[in-house]
Amino acid sequence: MNAADLAGYLSTPLAIGKKTINGRMVLAPMAGLGHVAFRELVAELGGFGLLFTGMCSAKAVPRENPAVSMVFRWRNRELPHTVCQIFGADPDVMARAARRIEQEGFFGVDLNFGCSVAAICKKGCGAALLKTPVKAAHIVTSVRKAIQIPVFVKFRTGWSDDPLFAADTAKRFEDAGADALTFHPRVAPDRRNRPPKWDIITQVQNAVAIPVFGNGNLFTREDGIRMLTQTKCQGLSLGRMAVARPWIFARWTREAGFDDTVYHRTARRLLELLGQHYPPPFNLKLFKKFAPYFCANFKFSLFLLKQLNQAKTMDEMKQAVDDLFIPCPETLSVPNLNLFV
Ligand SMILES: Cc1cc2nc3c(=O)[nH]c(=O)nc-3n(C[C@H](O)[C@H](O)[C@H](O)COP(=O)(O)O)c2cc1C
Repeated sequence: MNAADLAGYLSTPLAIGKKTINGRMVLAPMAGLGHVAFRELVAELGGFGLLFTGMCSAKAVPRENPAVSMVFRWRNRELPHTVCQIFGADPDVMARAARRIEQEGFFGVDLNFGCSVAAICKKGCGAALLKTPVKAAHIVTSVRKAIQIPVFVKFRTGWSDDPLFAADTAKRFEDAGADALTFHPRVAPDRRNRPPKWDIITQVQNAVAIPVFGNGNLFTREDGIRMLTQTKCQGLSLGRMAVARPWIFARWTREAGFDDTVYHRTARRLLELLGQHYPPPFNLKLFKKFAPYFCANFKFSLFLLKQLNQAKTMDEMKQAVDDLFIPCPETLSVPNLNLFV
């Protein structure tokens, strides 16, 4: 497979439940990064099949006011290609949240069974559910019964490095009614410090007939080609690299070319969109979450990040972005992964 083959494959439609998507490269759910402003930026650049929201609390979703909520917020135009992710531990609560998400018009609902952050696992949510796969499957069944739109499950290898457990659990989720899986082959609570074991993606995809989106350490186009050919997964889910280079979907699926001005333009556009969607100082805080991934693109990444972090207002940040990124500083072919937290 070469770059043109990759573009061709990633542009092949994929059936998910009763719906079909036009591209197989999706934005992974990322709390604090995949907000409505960032999704609008990615939508303008194009090339993706779906965008996932960061995780939303299933308890909060039924009563949440999108005009006030910082997380459960969207543009109506993005609903047909956006999947809302929820976390929770109670099947009824998860079903109620899923109903609201369906009513609002999202493409689908994604169940977070992968987050290994202590605050989430302590409440029995996220990856904690992989300790009780029967209970996790109950949640899938309950959500499946509640809605017609596609149900996705995002999960990881589990709490021990056992490919058989991952494959069995995938089958369990499929039998419970999941329409697609996103699989991140890392053990909890392993964050992102050790490389993911892509071989386990193969076993998970082999265990089910529904599509699996492979996830974890997709940085270069060669990585994308390797994951697809090696694991036979049916789609790619990109997290941190899509934050560093939001045009990566257009690059990989349409072979779109971008000159170096894309870096400055992207940072400036995100600042503008953050200003439209969020009040200060929250919008500045969100830009500072994006900044490490963005600065990782450059040779002097740490210096650039330090400069950006000094900005105290959105106007200061705009000035810093102009000063630092025109002309474009020296870039790296693979970003400085030390900044990919
Ligand atoms: C800042 C950050 C926030 C994340 N939040 C979520 C989340 O809300 N839900 C989720 O399922 N995964 C979350 N993830 C995990 C990503 O979806 C993805 O599995 C992980 O980053 C590995 O993919 P990558 O190597 O392409 O980044 C988060 C990751 C990061 C870096």
